[in-house]
Amino acid sequence: MTNSPTILVFDSGLGGLTVLREVVAARPDAHYVYVADDAFFPYGHHSEDEIIARVVPLMGELIGTHDPDLIVIACNTASTLVLSHLRAAYSLPFVGTVPAIKPACAQSRTRRVSVLGTKGTVKREYTKALIRDFAQGCEVTLVGSPELASLAEAELSGHPISDDAIRTELAPCFVGEDAGARTDTVVLACTHYPLLLDRLKKLAPWPVDWIDPAPAIARRVSDLLGARNGGVAQPGAEMIFTSNRAHGLSATLTPFFGGRAVA
Ligand code: DGL
Repeated sequence: MTNSPTILVFDSGLGGLTVLREVVAARPDAHYVYVADDAFFPYGHHSEDEIIARVVPLMGELIGTHDPDLIVIACNTASTLVLSHLRAAYSLPFVGTVPAIKPACAQSRTRRVSVLGTKGTVKREYTKALIRDFAQGCEVTLVGSPELASLAEAELSGHPISDDAIRTELAPCFVGEDAGARTDTVVLACTHYPLLLDRLKKLAPWPVDWIDPAPAIARRVSDLLGARNGGVAQPGAEMIFTSNRAHGLSATLTPFFGGRAVA
């Protein structure tokens, strides 16, 4: 591993920025390439076969172009499906983003947890296996949101979205009435959703704990890279849209890159 490793962070759109900001904070010594596969967004609307056929060869091209030391798949909809395919096809380390069901169920006091993800993520066998293995007796409600990722993408791109639109996507997460028995923990199982966290908190019918896996992913990346070995903070980062559109969002995006100039 070089002193300044290159970390490629991949998502279908802007949601992976919520993972990127934690990884950048944990490893300021790395060079970052953020890839948004916006030409294929939203992944939640594609079939499993389509996503595998899209992501596996695309990752090969990205590895060839950017030669990363480590790749973060900052997308639950992709990770719950393609991680095993990517690890079989390419030899570098992949860190995935999958629903944080284990910590959510471990901390729920009412034993009622909801998992809010894309329609694809909540359908996955991978997600069902996490519930079988780690629900620890909790009742887990799977909520497949058709539009929330697109709403978050719109909001961050400067197109404000209404409270009602968010409320509709959020409502099925809140189960039960009695304060001692109703949902008390919601897993943010799509990397786009933390972009809307303030709104989600404001629009929730009652307060809950929101579980975002990004800090745990950053710790995993740091462990895999090993000690910083004297690497110094890197000033720049690259942002790539597979549609080739010019992003024109630098002022909004810069905080996610820890203040670096984004090329
Ligand atoms: N950010 C992606 C995730 O974590 C999903 C958004 C999409 O549907 O493309 O699942």
